[in-house]
This record gives sequence, C-alpha cells and structure tokens, in this order.
Amino acid sequence: MRWRFPPLALLLLSLLSLLVEGASGFRICAYNVENWNWTKVSQSRVLHTLTRIVGRCDICLLQGVKDPDGKAIKKLLISVKRYEHYKYKEVSSKSLGNSPTDMQQYVFIYRSGMVSVTGTHQYEKKQSFVRAPYAVQFQSNKTAIEKFVLVPLHTHPSKAVQEIDRLYDVFEEVRQKWNNTNVMFLGDFHASCAYMTRKNKKDIRLFSRPGFSWLIHDKMDTTVKDITNCAYDRIVVYGKPFLKGITVNSAKVFNFLKVLKVSKVKALHVSNHLPVEVMLKSSASLLQATPLLFLISISAIVQYFLSAL
Ligand SMILES: *[C@@H]1O[C@H](CO)[C@@H](O)[C@H](O)[C@H]1NC(C)=O
Ligand SMILES: *[C@@H]1O[C@H](CO)[C@@H](O)[C@H](O)[C@H]1NC(C)=O
Ligand SMILES: *[C@@H]1O[C@H](CO)[C@@H](O)[C@H](O)[C@H]1NC(C)=O
Repeated sequence: MRWRFPPLALLLLSLLSLLVEGASGFRICAYNVENWNWTKVSQSRVLHTLTRIVGRCDICLLQGVKDPDGKAIKKLLISVKRYEHYKYKEVSSKSLGNSPTDMQQYVFIYRSGMVSVTGTHQYEKKQSFVRAPYAVQFQSNKTAIEKFVLVPLHTHPSKAVQEIDRLYDVFEEVRQKWNNTNVMFLGDFHASCAYMTRKNKKDIRLFSRPGFSWLIHDKMDTTVKDITNCAYDRIVVYGKPFLKGITVNSAKVFNFLKVLKVSKVKALHVSNHLPVEVMLKSSASLLQATPLLFLISISAIVQYFLSAL
C-alpha cells in the first residue's frame, strides 16, 4: 500500500504544475535604462543584470536608449537569447528629442514565438512631446486579449503634466488607426513627487476622462535610491475589456535588487529606476485545463482506492 504514494504524489505535482502553467500569464515590463549606449552594454555586469531583467518579460519596453546604430541593443538581444530559451526580436523608434546630445529611442524587446507586431505608429505632432510616443500594436494567441496597443512615454521632467495629458490625443489617434481600444500606456512619466502633484491630476485627461485605470499607484516607489520615494514609472490601461484581460493586482514594481540579489551600487550602474510590470491573462487559461485536471484527479483517486482493495 505504501508504494502507491509516490505515483500519487507525482500526479498531484503534475496537477499543480498545470495550474501554475495556466495561471502564469504574459508579462509586460517597462524600464528606463538611462543612457543605454555602447559604453554601458560593454560593462559585463551591467549587461548581465539587464539580460536577466529583460529575459523575464514577454514584452519589455526600454526607454533612455541612446543607440542610433542599434549596436548596443543587438548586443543585449544576443545576450538575452543566450540566457533564455525563447526567441526574441526588437522594434525601435527613431532617435527622438530636441537636443542633439540627448536623443533617445523607445525599444520593445519581445518573445517572437509568443507575440508578433502587427503595426507601428510614430506620433507626429512633435511640438506636443519632447519624445513623442511610438505606438506598437501587438497580437498574441497566448493572451486573453488578442490584439493590444502599447504606447510608451518617457516625459521630459519639466513638461510631465502636459505630456501625460497629451497621451489622450495619442489614444484618440491610435484607437482610430487600428480600431482598437485595448490601449496600454507605459513608461517613465515622471508622474510623481515634484513633477506631478495631486493638484495636477485635474489637468490630465488620463485622470479626468472615464475609462483609464492607473495600475501602478501613487504610493509605489519606482526608484532605486533611498532618498527618492516616487512613482515615476507607470502603467495605465484603457477600458473594461482590457482591464478584465489583466491579472488582478499583478501590476507592480519589480525590485530586482531583492529578487536577483543585486546590490544597490550595481543596480545604480544600470539605472536609478526600477522596472514596472503587469501580467496579461493567458488565453489557454484554467478553463481549458479543467477537463484534463478533472481526469487526472479522478484517475489518481481511482488508482488510490484500487490499490487499497
Ligand atoms: C554613453 O553615455 C555615457 C554617459 O552619458 C557617456 O559618458 C559615454 O561617452 C557614452 N558612450 C558612447 C559610446 O556614446
Ligand atoms: C500563434 O502566434 C505565433 C506568434 O505570433 C504564431 O507564430 C503562430 O502561428 C500562432 N499560432 C496560431 C495557431 O495562430
Ligand atoms: C471596429 O471594431 C469593432 C469591435 O471590435 C467592430 O464591431 C467594428 O466592425 C470594427 N470597425 C471596423 C471599421 O473595422
């Protein structure tokens, strides 16, 4: 009778792993990597840390990239591919900015077996933003919401309030372009501390118009340094359908210092920001796994009782 337990334990384990698989979902991240250029990518510790951060995400938005010839991003991609067993691709904006010494790109690194790009759109009203959003529409058969649009923004600190407000205009444009209201805004908005106060919220349509959910809250800290305690980096989604496609309470700051055991000094070599992330519910959810789970449980129980006879 005792020898029957190991197979039972195995079955329970596989049952558990199925549950975990079904609930694992699809991770979207955003990280301001401050001055990501060839000098930075050449520091092997920095590259290793960023590799582990990017490799966890199905889609990772990087901001603060200064890599017009694409060499630093290429090196990062090679590193991530070597580290993880997925295929990755990237899609990047042109260099954006109003000062030749501070031109930055938005870069999305994504797992190409999980999700594909169905369109890109550079917002053109240049006077509205220092670094105008570069929207990308993604499609995935792994997510409950099949097609969604990601709108990145790294605001200029002194124009944070106006630029966040103008995301509403970008929203109007992309929803029409792709006939898709599943829109997520993400990035370093400087939406906290001195740059965006409580009082400023009434001047921002992403607060005053209905339908926008701010998933990274005011009290969260997206900075590494102890002296700053600010929710600069944010994730905002539009609409009930998209919100329903997101795992409840999954939006968070990824404190890689704790999780990956990286010292504060080493973290600051990458950036003073922390990544933020959110999980989309997967399409092959428990609903699909349930009949299988049921069968496995029944067979386990039957086996158990047969063995007891
Ligand atoms: C990368 O950025 C740092 C910090 O701004 C700068 O000192 C360095 O010269 C840059 N490297 C390249 C290759 O542009
Ligand atoms: C699922 O998506 C991947 C990547 O977008 C694609 O290569 C694959 O063909 C899709 N599978 C089906 C069944 O649509
Ligand atoms: C836009 O999307 C809606 C809902 O998904 C659909 O009913 C409608 O036919 C679409 N319109 C166009 C012009 O494709």
